[in-house]
Amino acid sequence: MGFFAVLILVGLFRLVSSSPPPAAPGKIPALPPFSPVETPDLPPFNPPSQPPSTSPVNKPVKIPELPRAIFDMQSKSYFGFVILLNLLNATTKSALGQQVTFFMPSDQQLARSTISPGGLDDFVLTHTVPEPLIFSSLARTPNGTLIQSFTSNQFFRISNIGRRVFINNAHIVTRNVCSSDTIKCHGISTVIDTSMNQTVSW
Ligand SMILES: *[C@@H]1O[C@H](CO)[C@@H](O)[C@H](O)[C@H]1NC(C)=O
Ligand SMILES: *[C@@H]1O[C@H](CO)[C@@H](O)[C@H](O)[C@H]1NC(C)=O
Ligand SMILES: *[C@@H]1O[C@H](CO)[C@@H](O)[C@H](O)[C@H]1NC(C)=O
Repeated sequence: MGFFAVLILVGLFRLVSSSPPPAAPGKIPALPPFSPVETPDLPPFNPPSQPPSTSPVNKPVKIPELPRAIFDMQSKSYFGFVILLNLLNATTKSALGQQVTFFMPSDQQLARSTISPGGLDDFVLTHTVPEPLIFSSLARTPNGTLIQSFTSNQFFRISNIGRRVFINNAHIVTRNVCSSDTIKCHGISTVIDTSMNQTVSW
């Protein structure tokens, strides 16, 4: 019994004395040697819990609300714009992200414009802004407000002329066609003239 008490006392003493090493000249504090005993407890290198994706780049891009938005566009006869959206390549689709506003020229306007196959994605992007804007927010923006387009440094100018809301040269003729929360869309009077873009250099 006394033996164990002494052991405990010795243990306590060692704990206390090892923390502030007494500056005993000539005596090296008896620090326990560094022991690597704990390394075996570490789990071995964990491979990623999920197997690497077999198609890391070319995964089909899902914009969850897009089918609903397309349904709304069709119900207001924006068939040409729907076709353009369906033809977008994966790169452009992922660039669109989840929250967008589309400005849709009518089928007649699209039929008159020349869109080359290689320029299709750019055409859609020049009719899209990366935030969901309902008509009333557009109408409330101060005259001349610039909104960021999908191309960095390129901005569209929103202006109010009379009761009309313009995006560059085109004004909104059909408000709030898309009922989705994350995708808004409006019919516009003509194809957006991007030569009217504002460039802002930082
Ligand atoms: C998708 O369209 C964009 C814009 O026109 C183009 O830069 C890109 O190379 C296209 N990507 C593919 C995979 O076709
Ligand atoms: C205007 O902005 C659009 C959309 O960002 C861009 O595609 C187009 O090239 C720009 N136009 C000019 C003339 O810079
Ligand atoms: C907005 O600005 C345009 C020109 O930039 C002007 O013609 C128009 O009258 C302005 N609208 C209002 C409501 O001031």
